[in-house]
Amino acid sequence: LNKVPGTKGYEKVVNAFTEASLKLNFREIHPELYDLLPSPPARILDAGSGVGQNAAAFAQMGFDVVAVEPLEEFLAIAKSTFSGSAVRWLQDSLPALDKIDTSLEGFDFILLEGVWHHLNRTERKACIKRFSELMNSNGICAITLRNGPAGAGKHLFPTDTKELLEYADEFGFKAILKLENLPSIMNHKPNVTWAKVVIQKK
Ligand SMILES: C[S@@+](CC[C@H](N)C(=O)[O-])C[C@H]1O[C@@H](n2cnc3c(N)ncnc32)[C@H](O)[C@@H]1O
Repeated sequence: LNKVPGTKGYEKVVNAFTEASLKLNFREIHPELYDLLPSPPARILDAGSGVGQNAAAFAQMGFDVVAVEPLEEFLAIAKSTFSGSAVRWLQDSLPALDKIDTSLEGFDFILLEGVWHHLNRTERKACIKRFSELMNSNGICAITLRNGPAGAGKHLFPTDTKELLEYADEFGFKAILKLENLPSIMNHKPNVTWAKVVIQKK
């Protein structure tokens, strides 16, 4: 199995990353995204799910959840931490998402939280194209974009909401939310800013 470039660095900080991630609560961090969730049991994809706290929270809310994560260590922690959860955990990566066969398609909501900066421009475009294939019409895709010096993940590229919205337009999405220049929720990262973009399949 070829190593997915965007996982670079995370394998060195698995314990610290896990501890920090498991404290994060989706509803508190992203109230405006939480409000856009469909009604359960709609199908949700958590792409680049890390140690799985968001996927598990969605499953707990009654959603039908598929979580994809390339890093074996994170996936193993997700499965053991949330062993009672109905999440379908897949070791797979963007942009191809090869493991998502037709029986798993038809998503109503896709979360891409903290992953976009790990993809280059070619991969980003392919990613939005793939999401377009995998989504139901009116499906919603929530994407957070990071800018700033490397954190745990060492393979990263600058992000730009305009670039993302170009791909969205090209592959049949309309923008429904754009928030820029948000501070990092980790208060020790003053140079890091985030954006949140939500696009909806037409
Ligand atoms: C900042 S972490 C965010 C994890 C999780 N979404 C969360 O909010 O806690 C970035 C994650 O993206 C994953 N990742 C990196 N490149 C990826 C790719 N090409 N496809 C899918 N996931 C990727 C990393 O392994 C890591 O788990």
